Amino acid sequence: MSRIIAADEAGIELAARTLQDGSLVAFPTETVYGLGAAALDPHAVRRIFEMKGRPSDHPVIVHLPLDATLEAWATPVPNLARQAAEAFWPGPLTLVLHRSDTVPDAVTGGQATVALRMPDHPVAQALLQAYGGAIAAPSANRFGRISPTRAEHVASEFHEDDLLILEGGASRIGLESTILDLSRDTPTLLRPGAVTHAMLETVLGRPVTVAGTQADVPRAPGRLESHYAPRAPTRLASADELSTPTCVEPGGALLLRDAMPPIASGVTTLRLPNDPEGYAHGLYDALRSLDAEQPSEIVIERPPTDPAWVAILDRLARASHPGGPSRTREQSATLPTASSDAKEEP
Ligand code: TXA
Ligand code: MG
Repeated sequence: MSRIIAADEAGIELAARTLQDGSLVAFPTETVYGLGAAALDPHAVRRIFEMKGRPSDHPVIVHLPLDATLEAWATPVPNLARQAAEAFWPGPLTLVLHRSDTVPDAVTGGQATVALRMPDHPVAQALLQAYGGAIAAPSANRFGRISPTRAEHVASEFHEDDLLILEGGASRIGLESTILDLSRDTPTLLRPGAVTHAMLETVLGRPVTVAGTQADVPRAPGRLESHYAPRAPTRLASADELSTPTCVEPGGALLLRDAMPPIASGVTTLRLPNDPEGYAHGLYDALRSLDAEQPSEIVIERPPTDPAWVAILDRLARASHPGGPSRTREQSATLPTASSDAKEEP
């Protein structure tokens, strides 16, 4: 049984000891909750993959305490990495760098690079401090599912597992960190997040390439087209489409912004704030709540396309991707666990 515990002194101590013993701990960050293991313990890191149901060649992010140095994890450390860390750490930015010899293969999926992030959440930092080292952690969801932004989300993903979960309230940002690859000739944005493309170009003083679907991009589940998907078939609809009474099928559910006037009656409807920060903060919680109703489909009002919404649009595109793990209600009734069916794009 998973267990949510308060992040007081005793809770942090217990969690730190659990990591030292080679077991896993779920903990809050400002982006989403992570499923953590001692980063230098390959055996502990492998447990993450078992628990998530994630292929073991997928790399995980190393979370660093405030006093960590990049040199301990990366060689060489380019000046651009120092500039980015100086500007955005602690915070929602992950840097991909050439790894140093100390980083276990289990963390990098055997790749020559390592992903590093210094989280900006008091509970995450208290845990890192008490544990006394770095923590490898992916998002604390089963492979292919929506990232958790509350302790209860983690508990529902892993209710049958023996997992300690530190309570940290709702994640402030609510979307996974921006991933910037600085191991290549040009800085490359692998995953959009709260640290935007424009912010990165300003701080780095040079252009940042946005990764497409080119074959040379390292394996990154966040880049699979069908990631972050609810169980119900999910699609986006414009305000125009939503103005017709048949915009959602019977038994369907709607996710709208506050500004949208009421549409279909008798349809489960959730609303999110009009501003991108508020929307991102509530998005995964809303998708989970709607999905829990087992609707025949989830229809999401298409948000604006201006740059402030890029990270949200990225996640919504994945949540609504037809190749995703979404399925009809009939099919999902025969699939007891979320992990058994996550599909990966070729
Ligand atoms: O906000 C976040 O980043 C959260 C919190 C817990 O820190 N973590 C998170 O982890 O989203 P995860 O594993 O769900 O996504 C991390 C992404 C994956 O797409 C992974 O493949 C990619 O980072 N990644 C890790 N190491 C990499 C590397 N060496 N090169 C390229 N991508 C890498
Ligand atoms: Mg994830």
